[in-house]
Amino acid sequence: MFWVNKAHASSSIMPPQASNFAGPVDSLYDFLYWSSLISCILVIGGLVFFAFKYKRKTANDSTAYISHNATLEFLWSFIPFVIFLAVFAWGWKIFYDMKRAPKNAFEIHVVGQKWYWDFKYKSGKKTTGTFKVPYNKPIKLIMTSRDVLHSFYVPAFRIKQDVIPGRYTTLWFTATKLGTYQMFCTEYCGSGHSAMLAKVEVVPEAEFEEWLSDDPYKGLSMAEVGQKVFTQRCIACHNNTAEKKIGPGFKGLYGKERLIVAGTTLKDGKPMTVKADDNYLRESILNPNAKKAKGYENAVMTSFQGQLSDNELDGIIEYIKQLK
Ligand code: CUA
Repeated sequence: MFWVNKAHASSSIMPPQASNFAGPVDSLYDFLYWSSLISCILVIGGLVFFAFKYKRKTANDSTAYISHNATLEFLWSFIPFVIFLAVFAWGWKIFYDMKRAPKNAFEIHVVGQKWYWDFKYKSGKKTTGTFKVPYNKPIKLIMTSRDVLHSFYVPAFRIKQDVIPGRYTTLWFTATKLGTYQMFCTEYCGSGHSAMLAKVEVVPEAEFEEWLSDDPYKGLSMAEVGQKVFTQRCIACHNNTAEKKIGPGFKGLYGKERLIVAGTTLKDGKPMTVKADDNYLRESILNPNAKKAKGYENAVMTSFQGQLSDNELDGIIEYIKQLK
């Protein structure tokens, strides 16, 4: 039957089913879809049919006297009532399951901030913009935000949860299909909202364990480390060309004279010129409000203090240096 069949009709318009919740959510969706479609056909079809059947045919036809029909009125109230209650109970059951993570779930911490996602594992592993989960194991996400409201949404998993500064919210799922799935921020959080994306990679457990204990920067040069950091942390607001995005483009930035017109380190608010050297870049990454260059007075950047390791900070500065 259509509401228990996993490979159902409407899945053609749905993303792939890649978690334990995908089947139940789609079944409920299908039920809503088909019951709405059938109701629509009955109502509109009935309307058209009766309009023709009882059309006034001669000038002498008189309108039939119909006051009410108790059975009919009862049925057209009671049947939808039962359907609505069933939808409520069905939805409540799925919601209840979604809200209760199994005790043995593998925990991953998620931090959202303008405009990227950080993932932290208990082993100390940290990733940005992409994270791996083991196949067929319950995963619990413990999520918070460093700035404003964001929302964590993986369509293929059919899970979504707001991410809120100053508190933790959670989500859980079991990935039931190997592959890479798109994750979106689905709460409008500012100009970089649409770029606030991440990827979930579902891999076999052995591969996951190996990855978990592996150093992501092993064997990379400083600039290569920086390039990795760039694509994960900077790309939402900066180009690696000279072109301005939300912040300045990185190409040719190193060594340039910058006219500083605002910032916490400005003396008496008087503009000054500084050279974009290592220390300037370092300060601008760790304390973006210290020196704000002309054209970027109102650009918002969250501090990366405590967000980047020394290795990553050195790497990104070296990367910018090499973009000539
Ligand atoms: Cu974060 Cu939208």
